[in-house]
Amino acid sequence: MVHIGGLVIVGSQWGDEGKGKVTDIMCEKSDLVVRYQGGNNAGHTVVVGEEVFKFHLMPSGVVHGKKCCIANGVVLDPRVLMKEIKEVQKRGITVDIMIDPLTQIILPYHNELDGASEKELDDKKIGTTTRGIGPAYKDKYGRDGIRFIDLLDEKLFAKKLKKNYEHKKNILDKIYGIEIECTYEGILEEYNALADKLRKYLGDVSKEVYDSIHTKKVLFESAQGTFLDISYGTYPYVTSSHPISGAVFTDVGFPPTNLDVIAIVKAYTTRVGSGPFLCELNDEVGDHLVNVGQEFGTTTGRKRRCGWLDLVMLKYSNRINGFTDLAITKLDVLTGLEKIKVGVKYTMDGEVVNFPLTIDQLEKCIVEYKEFDGFTITGKERTYDELEENAKIYLKFIEDYLGVKISIVSIGPKRSETIIV
Ligand code: GDP
Ligand code: IMO
Ligand code: MG
Repeated sequence: MVHIGGLVIVGSQWGDEGKGKVTDIMCEKSDLVVRYQGGNNAGHTVVVGEEVFKFHLMPSGVVHGKKCCIANGVVLDPRVLMKEIKEVQKRGITVDIMIDPLTQIILPYHNELDGASEKELDDKKIGTTTRGIGPAYKDKYGRDGIRFIDLLDEKLFAKKLKKNYEHKKNILDKIYGIEIECTYEGILEEYNALADKLRKYLGDVSKEVYDSIHTKKVLFESAQGTFLDISYGTYPYVTSSHPISGAVFTDVGFPPTNLDVIAIVKAYTTRVGSGPFLCELNDEVGDHLVNVGQEFGTTTGRKRRCGWLDLVMLKYSNRINGFTDLAITKLDVLTGLEKIKVGVKYTMDGEVVNFPLTIDQLEKCIVEYKEFDGFTITGKERTYDELEENAKIYLKFIEDYLGVKISIVSIGPKRSETIIV
């Protein structure tokens, strides 16, 4: 596919669709790669030859030595970013990163609050990554957050931290009955040192993108997926940001512009954490997808729940995101299944419905499936024509159902295991 101007890499399902791999492929021809939301709840994998990179905050474009930006829609854990920078540098890669001054900072009490809130929810827990994401966004929207620019100002940071620390200590104590683990002095010392190391990466990402969007190739790498979106996902079993394509404008800070949107679509569906999942498979086919697809979380190591591809979900995802292209990933994982099913219709109380807006309605829906004959992917196919006929039938059905062209088919984790259509 031709990439001019801005291109958004968006997760079309519940995350872990292969955004890292596709970003790595697409960014070869890009000038700038921008992470625009989420935090180190994300885990993006890039495989280059025998080397495996797992990024939580760093845009995947760093492997290609591209200029990488962290936009203000991100919640940034400085410990994690510093660790990633060091790891990448150790592997001989030059890090060219820019962090927006308005980016919110995750502090140790956010992690403690995340854990405490999950514990309290007990059997209703969200299944968060406990990386402090929700509490950090709560502070942002509660207008209590500490931003990167504040962290770099020692006096201001000390003042803001004092107020926040006391407040969180009280919440942990009075609401959850837990004694705070981190100390004010400890955070101050550690984060002042981190600020000194990260200071050189400060830059106005909003302006950088504004200045580049019409003259250069800019790639926007989302984290999570559409059904984890705080508004459009399966609320409350969602994350606390907007992984959808339209969020780039507010999360980076540039005016609405015509952008391409490439939807990363796993050839089946996975989900980590709690919440409804209509096409879920708790049988040997589900086990096949877990084992062959190696469906274990990149961030928490949790086993991912697996099921058939759900086109009703994807139709909704397309309406919200405006897909211009599809990248189908992990098609090879379906090899070995005699029959493959795809969710094509939802009914609720006997009526055909679109993907519903609440989880109560979703739980009342019944899925109808279309069945396909299986196929074999060897991983050696390099053109669309080399794919087996049954694989092409499967792909064509997805294309026709959604009315969006497939531009990439991924048939293995490596860069080379990719078909550009
Ligand atoms: P992300 O969060 O969307 O970047 O996805 P993850 O990296 O969390 O999960 C995708 C996993 O699938 C990673 O381990 C990738 O290396 C792997 N992967 C990506 N594309 C393919 C593919 O086409 N086939 C197979 N077998 N694995 C893939
Ligand atoms: P990538 O970018 C899959 C899920 C968690 C949980 C919910 C809320 O690798 O696709 P949070 O810690 O964000 O408050 O948890 O969101 N979740 C993800 N699931 N991939 C991710 O990121 C995820 N990031 C968060 O499992 O259900
Ligand atoms: Mg992931």
